[in-house]
Amino acid sequence: MDLTEYGHCLINNYAAPPLAFDRGEGARIWDVGGNEYLDFSSGIAVTCLGHSHPKWVSAVQKQAAKLVHCTNLFAIPEQARLAERLTAKAGTGRMLFCNSGAEANEALIKLARLYGCSKAGGEEGKIVKIVTAEGDFHGRTYGAMSATSGSKIRSGFAPLAPGFVFAKFNELASFEALLDEDTAAVLIEPIQGEGGIRETSDDVLRGIRQLCDERGILLMLDEVQSGMGRTGRFFSYENA
Ligand SMILES: Cc1ncc(COP(=O)(O)O)c(C=O)c1O
Repeated sequence: MDLTEYGHCLINNYAAPPLAFDRGEGARIWDVGGNEYLDFSSGIAVTCLGHSHPKWVSAVQKQAAKLVHCTNLFAIPEQARLAERLTAKAGTGRMLFCNSGAEANEALIKLARLYGCSKAGGEEGKIVKIVTAEGDFHGRTYGAMSATSGSKIRSGFAPLAPGFVFAKFNELASFEALLDEDTAAVLIEPIQGEGGIRETSDDVLRGIRQLCDERGILLMLDEVQSGMGRTGRFFSYENA
C-alpha cells in the first residue's frame, strides 16, 4: 500500500501512519509486506483480548450471521446476557452499552447534570460542576473534550461545555478545595492512560471516595484504558 495515498482519502486526525497492517494473531501482527511484529500498542489499549482469538471470531461470526440490529425499541436476549455478566463484575448497577469511550463519558456527564439538577430540587444550571484531574484524557467529543484539561485536545474548539474544573493529579487537597456546594461529580481515571500511565495512589482514591460520599457528590471512574482486567482486577479501582 502506498501510504502517501492514505492522506488523500482520510482526514488525518492522527499523524500520517508509518506502517500498514494486514492481520493479527494473539499478540502478534503482520504488516502488508509480511513482516511480523509483537503488538505492544494493543490498539492503544483497545485490543485487550489480542487479535482474532478463535472464540471471539466465532462469537462475532455467529451473531453477524444471525441478527445484526433491531433498534433499542426491542430486546436482543444476548445483550441482556452480556449486561448481566458485566454488572456481576461491577458488583452492582446496570449497564449502558456505548460505541466508544467518549460516548460512555458523555453519558456520565449527562448523568452528573441530571443528578445535580435533582439535588438542586429541580433547578437547572445550579449544581453543575464536574471536577476532573489535570492530565486526564476523556475523549474527543464536546463534553469529553471539555472534561480534558490538555490544550492539545482543547485548543481551537472554544467555546467548550461549561462547568469543568481541574484538580491537581493525585493531590487530595486540590480535589477537596474544588468540591463545593455547586459540585455534582468527580470524573477521573484511576490510572491515567494517555497522561503517561500515572496511578492515582490508593490513599488519594479512597480519600476522594470519602469526600464524595460525605458531600453527596458522584464519583465517576473512567476505566476505558485501565479496566477490563488490565491491572489484574476487572476494574483498576478494585486494587485500592
Ligand atoms: C481514559 C480514556 N477515556 C476515554 C477515551 C476515549 O475513548 P474513544 O477513543 O473510544 O472515544 C480514551 C481513549 O483513549 C481513554 O484513554
